[in-house]
Amino acid sequence: MASFRILTLNQISAHGLHRFPAARYTVGKSVDRPDAILVRSHDMHAMAIPASVRAIGRAGAGTNNIPIAALSARGVPVFNAPGANANAVKELVLTALLIGARNVVPALRYVEGLDPEAADLEARIEEGKKQFAGVELPGRTLGIIGLGAIGGLVADIAIKLGMKAIGFDPEITVDAAWRLPSSVRKAHSIDEVMKHADFVTLHVPLLPVTRHLIDARRLALARPGTVLLNFSRDAIVDDAAVVAALGAGRLRYYLTDFPGPALIGQPNVVALPHLGASTAEAEDNSAVMVVDQVREFLEHGTIANSVNFPNVEMERESPHRVAIANANVPNMLGQISSAMAKAGLNIHNMVNRSRGEMAYTLVDVESPVGDAVVRAIAGIGGVLSVRAIPAA
Ligand SMILES: NC(=O)c1ccc[n+]([C@@H]2O[C@H](COP(=O)([O-])OP(=O)(O)OC[C@H]3O[C@@H](n4cnc5c(N)ncnc54)[C@H](O)[C@@H]3O)[C@@H](O)[C@H]2O)c1
Repeated sequence: MASFRILTLNQISAHGLHRFPAARYTVGKSVDRPDAILVRSHDMHAMAIPASVRAIGRAGAGTNNIPIAALSARGVPVFNAPGANANAVKELVLTALLIGARNVVPALRYVEGLDPEAADLEARIEEGKKQFAGVELPGRTLGIIGLGAIGGLVADIAIKLGMKAIGFDPEITVDAAWRLPSSVRKAHSIDEVMKHADFVTLHVPLLPVTRHLIDARRLALARPGTVLLNFSRDAIVDDAAVVAALGAGRLRYYLTDFPGPALIGQPNVVALPHLGASTAEAEDNSAVMVVDQVREFLEHGTIANSVNFPNVEMERESPHRVAIANANVPNMLGQISSAMAKAGLNIHNMVNRSRGEMAYTLVDVESPVGDAVVRAIAGIGGVLSVRAIPAA
């Protein structure tokens, strides 16, 4: 029975690590010759990654601490846990929505400024509350820009609270579209969302095209008194334009997880210190998801949620399997199949998928795969890694 060695570079949630069966896995922070490495925020760029490594698992979403290009060149997939923190972010967005609707932050500041010894304390409380009268959510419109894992959950909870939802996502995945409540109105542009919403929330990745997605021009389209929420990334919003829109009454509040220098101290800005994914559950979910993916890869060669490899699944119909990562160039499959034929291996089933410059092939064969054929395939120009994966 094949056994595997897992090196952990950070503290990984025990909920995840417990999913490695002790009989087959050695897991720890000083494991040598690892088959896979699990990491959270440890910077791997300067690290000498051992030749034995077949996979990297990042218990979280961002992978900028991992040298992806160098690992791709070695045919090593990097897995992450997209969506594992989506509920955590959704709950903070919901908190922010309610804080904005009910003027909670200025009301708290008002109370903190009261003199507890004042004889007219009660009168001051009753008098002060008038300025903080809020609005209720049912019937109000929430605009959602980006309808992926987080945006979809936010749309769902908003509708359950009686809100109307209008969403925009030109590249929504089929799965995300399936999950989206049917009452979410489809907008054809961000401008359309800005014009029709009382609250606007952003759930897009930071990319060159989403930098300053919300700028002075788009803010000018918003209804007076709109509440803007940004729990995605700082640079998606032009902070200076937001401060100007708040001053002009175009925006009532800006609630964000990214307290940029232009925002701190602004009266109608509510900024949190990047708390979106900071829950115990999100850490557990990320670890569970990435451990399961790394196990599937080590034990069966299948790939889900890799940032540098295509998704590849193949039902296991034979105990003898070969996994090959190769450059996405012509005639690779022909060369791989003839190396197998030469070694007398009968192909039972085969799947090949590509993603950009990377291709990945799983081949189930009818007899055991010897070292000689693995070496022969490894010697084909363009092959990056080869592994025989016998069934447990
Ligand atoms: N505050 C936090 O701590 C925290 C935690 C997790 C994620 N995030 C942020 O939230 C973002 C969204 O996370 P997710 O898990 O929902 O990601 P996701 O990949 O599931 O969804 C992102 C969606 O945005 C869409 N999109 C891309 N460009 C767009 C555009 N120009 N207009 C409209 N839609 C566009 C994509 O098609 C996709 O459906 C992440 O990229 C990250 O920046 C923040």
